[in-house]
Amino acid sequence: MLDHGAAPPVVDTTTPKTSMLGALTRRKPVERLVNEGGQGEGGSLRRSLSMWQLTMISIGATLGTGIFVVLGDAVPQAGPAVTLAFVIAGLTALFSALSYAELAGAIPVAGSSYSYAYATMGELVAWVCGWCLVLEYGVSVAAVAVGWGEYVNELLDGTIGVTIPDALSSAPGEGGIINLPALIVVLLAMVFLLGGAKESARANTIMVVVKIAALVLFCTIGFMGFKSGNYSDFMPLGMAGVSAAGASLFFSYIGFDAASTAGEEAKNPQRDLPRAIMLSLIIVTTLYVLVAAVAVGAWNWKDFEGSKASLAAIMNDVSGQTFWGTLLAAGAVISIASVVLTVLYGQTRVLFAMSRDGLVPKVFGKVSTKTGTPRVNTVIVSIFCGVLAAAIPLGELVDATSIGTLFAFALVNIAVVILRKTRPDMKRTFRVPLGWLFPVLGFGFCVYNMFSLGASTWTVFGCWMAAGLVFYFLYGMRRSRLAPAPAVAEAPAEK
Ligand code: ALA
Repeated sequence: MLDHGAAPPVVDTTTPKTSMLGALTRRKPVERLVNEGGQGEGGSLRRSLSMWQLTMISIGATLGTGIFVVLGDAVPQAGPAVTLAFVIAGLTALFSALSYAELAGAIPVAGSSYSYAYATMGELVAWVCGWCLVLEYGVSVAAVAVGWGEYVNELLDGTIGVTIPDALSSAPGEGGIINLPALIVVLLAMVFLLGGAKESARANTIMVVVKIAALVLFCTIGFMGFKSGNYSDFMPLGMAGVSAAGASLFFSYIGFDAASTAGEEAKNPQRDLPRAIMLSLIIVTTLYVLVAAVAVGAWNWKDFEGSKASLAAIMNDVSGQTFWGTLLAAGAVISIASVVLTVLYGQTRVLFAMSRDGLVPKVFGKVSTKTGTPRVNTVIVSIFCGVLAAAIPLGELVDATSIGTLFAFALVNIAVVILRKTRPDMKRTFRVPLGWLFPVLGFGFCVYNMFSLGASTWTVFGCWMAAGLVFYFLYGMRRSRLAPAPAVAEAPAEK
């Protein structure tokens, strides 16, 4: 029977009282982050990924445009010392990778560095980190897709002798109308991701095997054209050139952390995430240094100026046949497509975690009961990345990605130090050796690389951050799941 005497509670919809500082610094406990793992709106993510697949996700997200395209742009800055630039960029990645490995083993959730920051530095820093991850993942999908288009043209040229006209394969800023290939590869990746995480991981594994084979083939053939004289002027533009090249080449390491976005779909995340992150970085760094050393040994550094798809061109030159260059271009097309696939995956999972925390709209956390994946989220993110890829030139996207990633990595290094202090007894399946030394070095390298990027990149970064802060203060801060619940007051009794 209904009790008509009792008045229903009245929800007080006025903003709950909490100090601004309290809101900005509220932290999400590690246990809560872990317990909520996998849960989305209307369903849960499926745990289906093995350590092998996680490693392939990280390699898949890392090896791509950086080595196939950006290397060619970096050689004119550093000369043969581009090999050194790869090592400098690799060290930045290594120190940060160690920190990622420790945190991914301790907090194995989908939000990656966003979640680590939420547990250690509070909501505002977490938001800023998550916003930077959109640069790292979302914007880099677009950058990588643009690089993909360059190799598609190389492949078409080598096989059927035609290329897509500039109007349809370049962004408006570069004299074109739309970059159609870049848009297409993003939409293709979306179709794979909509099929499910396990299916996407399988396709990615095949693509990773192809890309490693393509780079090994390059080293083998390129080495035949090796001339030691090309190394005689090792650092023609001095250390400044090497630093600038290192900062751009940092882009080629972005993605080793992608496995950490799969924490809620991994079968044994605590054990496998740290291993996958470290293993992928070792494999990738070895390949980069080898490929760069062979490339600048085969061509004089000045020949790289203005050359597109330079690795394929080197193969053609050295072998005297277009067959090998075309084969490499085919390998590059497949390789770069896997970066688009895995990085797009990472972006959807970071937004998934942010949505569960209330900082972005709920739609990003909706899980399809059919595939156990966030499908609406995948479609929205793909459209965003596809439009960027179709409309913005590569160089601008690459540097924006690098600065956002460096910022997020710097925060991850700090998070390791804070978590060691605040939660010394927490279970860690991997610990960065030598105390705080490597996280502090990692932080220093990230900041150093950030300051090596140009003023225009900083301007883009500043505007991006300002937009992010406006969104947080207008939306995330109020909707956060850590915000105090609206007070429920008893309605006055009816007379
Ligand atoms: N590291 C990725 C690439 O080089 C983003 O394509």
